[in-house]
Amino acid sequence: MEERKVLCLVVDDEEKVRDVMARVLSGEGFECRKAASGRDAVALLNSEPFDLAVLDIQMPEMDGTKLLAEIRLRWPETGVVMVTAVSDVRTAVACLTHGALDYVAKPFEIDEVRARVRQALEKRRLIRENRDYQLHLEERVQQQAARIEELFVLGVHSLVQALEAKDRYTRGHSARVAVYAEEIARQLGLDDETLAEIRLGGELHDIGKIGVREGVLQKPGPLTEDEYLHVMEHPVLGERILAPLLKDHPIVVSIVRSHHERLDGAGLPDHLQGEAIALVARIASVADAFDAITTGRPYMRSRPPEEALAELRRCVGWQFDADCVEGFARAYPDVSLLPIPTPDVVALRQASLRRS
Ligand SMILES: [Fe+2]
Repeated sequence: MEERKVLCLVVDDEEKVRDVMARVLSGEGFECRKAASGRDAVALLNSEPFDLAVLDIQMPEMDGTKLLAEIRLRWPETGVVMVTAVSDVRTAVACLTHGALDYVAKPFEIDEVRARVRQALEKRRLIRENRDYQLHLEERVQQQAARIEELFVLGVHSLVQALEAKDRYTRGHSARVAVYAEEIARQLGLDDETLAEIRLGGELHDIGKIGVREGVLQKPGPLTEDEYLHVMEHPVLGERILAPLLKDHPIVVSIVRSHHERLDGAGLPDHLQGEAIALVARIASVADAFDAITTGRPYMRSRPPEEALAELRRCVGWQFDADCVEGFARAYPDVSLLPIPTPDVVALRQASLRRS
């Protein structure tokens, strides 16, 4: 598409000056219209949008300063350059404070006119750009914030993928725990912002297993005491990995650190009791247990969802929070409909059990 030519308006009551100025500007590749008075100029300005107006200051009827004021008011997009006699430079300078971009003193040098006009157009471009920038600043800040959040979530997902590549038994586990935990929290009436944090906490709760030895993670069959304690370092490792990244997400960090606490104080890592365990961690603990029971572990066969729910209820009061378990039951009135476990997890688990 051909770019539109710069459209200039030359206003001067002296025909000769008008023509010379128009010729200079045309030589610059601009398109020019000429007006012999302020009134003619206003008529032309009304008919099309000018990029630039070059105004003589001393004209009968409407002089250049009045025309400048009119242009600033009605056509603020039009840049203005004043042309003045050397004797009236003071007026020209005053025009600058009223919005003219520059001035040229008569008799003018052609090169000077060219330079001043170019500069004036550049100034106009910068003013407009700056204004647009200010207008869209808020929009840009929002876009940047959304992008940062997007990158953060992508980073988080690669962490989860790294873990799931290492620990095949937890493939899909993080995603399911995230969904269950969010649904429990919804039943408990938590707000949307907290729900989003809980979902993220669910996805990340086992991230510390990245620091657990593979031989232990993959071991088919029961773990020794030492191996169990090594695996159970993952909440603290996870917190250590995520805390610097998640300074603004204390809920997520709390889920990562405390999802293996138990109401009776026998949990890890802090042996917290009852409500000393954050509600979000009590929620995650129920979601985590339900998925572990229904998908099985190397040392434990999977059990159907109905049995898993019964097991959660059996452990209410000493391991799990009653409200969280009942929240889960309300979220899934028919647990048998839950699409679990995923086929590849079943196949992997059965292969592993056959080996053991
Ligand atoms: Fe865990």
